[in-house]
Amino acid sequence: MRSFFDLNSNSEFHLPISFVGCGSATPQTIISNAELGERVDTSDEWIKSRTGIRQRRVIGANESLIDLATHAARNALKMAKWDEKTIDLIILATSTPEDLFGSAPKIQSNLGASNAAAFDLTAACSGFLFALVTASQYLISGSMKRIIVIGADQLSKWVDWDDRSTCVLFGDGAGALAIEASHENKGLIGYSLKSDGNRGGCLNLAHSNIFEDLVNEASHQRGDYLPIRMEGKEVYKFAVKEVPIILGELLEKYNIHSGSIDWLLLHQANQRILDAVAARFSIPSEKVLSNLENYGNTSAATIPLMLDEAVRDKRIKSGDLIACSGFGAGLSWGAALFYWHGSY
Ligand code: UT7
Repeated sequence: MRSFFDLNSNSEFHLPISFVGCGSATPQTIISNAELGERVDTSDEWIKSRTGIRQRRVIGANESLIDLATHAARNALKMAKWDEKTIDLIILATSTPEDLFGSAPKIQSNLGASNAAAFDLTAACSGFLFALVTASQYLISGSMKRIIVIGADQLSKWVDWDDRSTCVLFGDGAGALAIEASHENKGLIGYSLKSDGNRGGCLNLAHSNIFEDLVNEASHQRGDYLPIRMEGKEVYKFAVKEVPIILGELLEKYNIHSGSIDWLLLHQANQRILDAVAARFSIPSEKVLSNLENYGNTSAATIPLMLDEAVRDKRIKSGDLIACSGFGAGLSWGAALFYWHGSY
């Protein structure tokens, strides 16, 4: 007898999930490449040609990550036309919570989503995709009906602003998606997630490993982190190798030709990575979603931030097929194929 998941091994069958709303929010403060050049030895020309980034936004004195995430979630709720009391779960994908015990419950409270459970999930730049897949399990099992998935990060807190090899890359932002259980519409086709901790040293935000005396012979580890450290070339090679593999496997599994993809929606880390992946599938540049020139790499926020922008400017329409992939620290990476079903 074929299982529910075997049934999903063709493109005619969809997991019972619909993507019905999205939202995003970005900080007010904009830092241009030229401005960064006043602080570190870099240039607009180098940053633009090597990454595609022109500017990034950072959370300033009167803003917070929780505010941005709440704003993004509210916009997603509004698009989905949901009453906040009908939300069952809120998952916040972030590596930079305001509270290490979790920031999602604060967002739940801000939204007035009094019937929702809320928790944080950490998988760095793959976090949104991992959260989306996690959320989908509750919907597939039938235990929940409406979930808000948020990707929000404030890497500006953890960047060494005097290290030109990393500080030019990152920015802050938040994006959210409203997804619901639905048997009627085309929705999530399939997904795949991967991790390789052996290569985790290429990109990390590691604990400082400083021990302080406690009592007698005992010491304790201080709660403190080092700035982001990245072997850029290694991470680049990882992304241009693994993203085409994972996406290619998904397309093959569900018998979908790359020519049927309406939009390639990748984690926004480097324009050269977007171009390389698109070239592997012969996807024309008009179908490759990119906004990193304005925001840089906003970690868990890039995918929903990009999706929201393209839905609101009416590039993405209801019924469009989206091939999505996230990748980053862990190392971790993943992909999902889904139809967009929101209306705006
Ligand atoms: O979100 C997680 C996923 N992250 C990523 O996907 C990031 C992947 N990696 C990359 O996007 C690229 O590797 C970078 C954009 C980070 C770097 O580009 P690259 O072409 O790999 O440059 P590189 O690190 O090999 O550096 C080339 C040169 C070096 O100088 P020399 O040794 O050739 O003299 C660097 O010192 O560029 C220099 N350089 C810079 N110069 C001006 C490095 N950073 C800068 C800078 N401005 N900001």
